[in-house]
Amino acid sequence: MKKGIIILGSSNSNGDTRKIVSFISEKISYPVIDLKTKNIAEFDYEFKNKNDDFHPLIKEIVNTYEIILFATPVYWYSMSGTMKTFFDRISDCLKIAKETGRKLRGIEMAVISCGSDKELKNGFHMPFIETANYLGMNYTSDVHCWLENGTIPMEVQKNLNTVIASIH
Ligand SMILES: Cc1cc2nc3c(=O)[nH]c(=O)nc-3n(C[C@H](O)[C@H](O)[C@H](O)COP(=O)(O)O)c2cc1C
Repeated sequence: MKKGIIILGSSNSNGDTRKIVSFISEKISYPVIDLKTKNIAEFDYEFKNKNDDFHPLIKEIVNTYEIILFATPVYWYSMSGTMKTFFDRISDCLKIAKETGRKLRGIEMAVISCGSDKELKNGFHMPFIETANYLGMNYTSDVHCWLENGTIPMEVQKNLNTVIASIH
């Protein structure tokens, strides 16, 4: 199995997306980084935030893992703001942490989304796919999830199991 990590970008550390993430990590024991517990500020053109938690985190990720699972709730048809801030900060790696940026090449990216609707609007995955392309990462898969009465429906479990099985 590939060495992987799950990055959780929900505004609720114990919400629906966390339930999906727990389902996955129970099966494949990937560590979970909850971005809400990290101090990661917005992108700054003068890199005034360079001493927050972003750089140690991204450095550890590129040096340790072969696949990153980005798990985000759907907020207003998009990834969460927390997740987007993480993506914005990857821009730091193109300017002041180029070695780290280069190491993103070849790392796999998969996306787990969780919404109240069973379907995503067209284009939801575009920022992930294009970011992966730009950085030389390999976009491998995505799975959209939702909960029913606080539990993961069989259909979603089946889709998650397919993605989990492909991570070998
Ligand atoms: C600010 C906000 C915006 C939302 N926008 C959408 C949306 O566009 N599409 C959708 O299906 N669900 C939307 N939802 C519902 C959440 O995606 C859904 O409840 C999800 O399970 C929440 O996951 P969480 O507990 O990890 O935040 C929104 C919820 C919030 C709080």
